Formats: sequence, C-alpha cells, structure tokens
Amino acid sequence: MSEANKSFHPDEIDVSISEISDGIYRISGFVETYGITFNQFLIQDECPTLIHTGPMGMYNKIEEKVKEVINIEKLAYVAFLHFESDEWGGMEFLKSPKAKLVCSDLSSKLNLTGWYNVPCDHISFWDNELLKTGKRVLRFIMTPHVHHWDSMMIFEETTKSLFPSDLFIQPGKNRAIVSSDLSDDMIQLYKTVGIFGSEEPVRQTTRRLVKLEPKIIFPMHGGCIDASMFPSYTDALMKNEFAYSGNILGQKVQIVT
Ligand SMILES: [Fe+2]
Ligand SMILES: [Fe+2]
Repeated sequence: MSEANKSFHPDEIDVSISEISDGIYRISGFVETYGITFNQFLIQDECPTLIHTGPMGMYNKIEEKVKEVINIEKLAYVAFLHFESDEWGGMEFLKSPKAKLVCSDLSSKLNLTGWYNVPCDHISFWDNELLKTGKRVLRFIMTPHVHHWDSMMIFEETTKSLFPSDLFIQPGKNRAIVSSDLSDDMIQLYKTVGIFGSEEPVRQTTRRLVKLEPKIIFPMHGGCIDASMFPSYTDALMKNEFAYSGNILGQKVQIVT
C-alpha cells in the first residue's frame, strides 16, 4: 500500500487536552499513519472559539474535550484556516446551536458558495479584520498560497498568540510545548509532503509574522512553539528550500512529458 493510500481511522485516535496559556487549550491526537499530531485549539472567552475541528470521525472525541472546559451550547465560533477535511471535516459542530463557522473571504467565495449540496452558513473575514470574542480579539491574516490560495491565519492580539495552521508544523508525537529545535524536521517534512507550491509566499508571510512578535505559536500539527524557539523556525524557512519538487505525501509523482 502506498503512503498516500494508507488507511486512517480518525475515530481510533486518542485525543487529549492541555491548557497551553491562560484560557487557550490544545486538543490533540497523534495520527500514526501520517506521523503527526492533529491539533485543535479552544479559546475560552465570553464567545468561546474553536480553531479547527479535526476530520470527520475525530470530532466526537474533540467535542468531549471541549465539554470539559465549556458548555458546548455556548460554543460561538468554529474557525477553519483553509478548506481541507482535517481543518473542519468534523462538521457536526454545526449541531451546536450557536456555533458560527468562521473562514477567510476566499474560502467563502471559492469553497463554501456555489455548491448544489453544501449549504453552509458562515461568516468570513478579509485581511486585518478583527473579531472580538469578549476579552480576546482575533485578527485575521490572509496568507494566499501559503499552502492553499484561500489560506489564512489568526493572531489573538491580547495574548499575542499565533495560529498559523500548517506553517511551523513538526512531525512526531511531540510534547504540548516543544522543548527542542525541530526546525530541520519541519523542513524535511515539507520537502517530503510537498504542501507549498513555492517558497516566496511563505517567506513573505514569515516576515510579516516575525513583525507581530508572537509570544506563542500554535501549529496545527506538532507542539506549540514559544517565542524563544520561534527564530529557529523562521530562519529555517528563510534559508532552506522546501517547496514542492516532485514529492507528494512522501511519494514521487511521475510526470510523463
Ligand atoms: Fe492543510
Ligand atoms: Fe493541517
């Protein structure tokens, strides 16, 4: 069986929760098939927000962890940062009566409208727009072609917390906060998996993120990164090649010319 086709049963993944910083929780499961963790983040506030839902099948376990912190009836926003099943495939959150789906304007225009069979109420944001959730303020950062062209990130202003989705990911079953420099592993993973079409959009975004001076970074895969470790990861992206060069999900793509 090829790497890309290995079976993956999201409902068999063990999911755990840990509070990373004041009122921000990481809900994480290690997916052996891909050798990475899938992380969701709950921001506890007047209007609680969940960032990513995990794929279909994993959401039930994620929801159980959310319920350990808040009344699920109060879940106000569920944000996905680009259109992929691990970002928001667990659509059952829509059963949470008040939960509103939050996405980028591009995800809205390109992926959530115009379908015959995907009726999906949502609110969308453009670059630098803000969403106040109570004490916290979410700033939306458009990052086109950092992975997908509808990609965005979230920066929580009051705690300087960055939610970069698939940027700064590391392979392995890491601690909730990484204690060693895994930037070389990150670069190697990007080369093997081939999620970036080219380096330049990633580097433009990286320069912008450095200026934000995040205190803690919450990647969707891997451990969280504190400010002292962040320069290793940004330097690695500025100095190394990591864009797609023929490998997708660990497999060489044969292009016949
Ligand atoms: Fe992704
Ligand atoms: Fe992801």
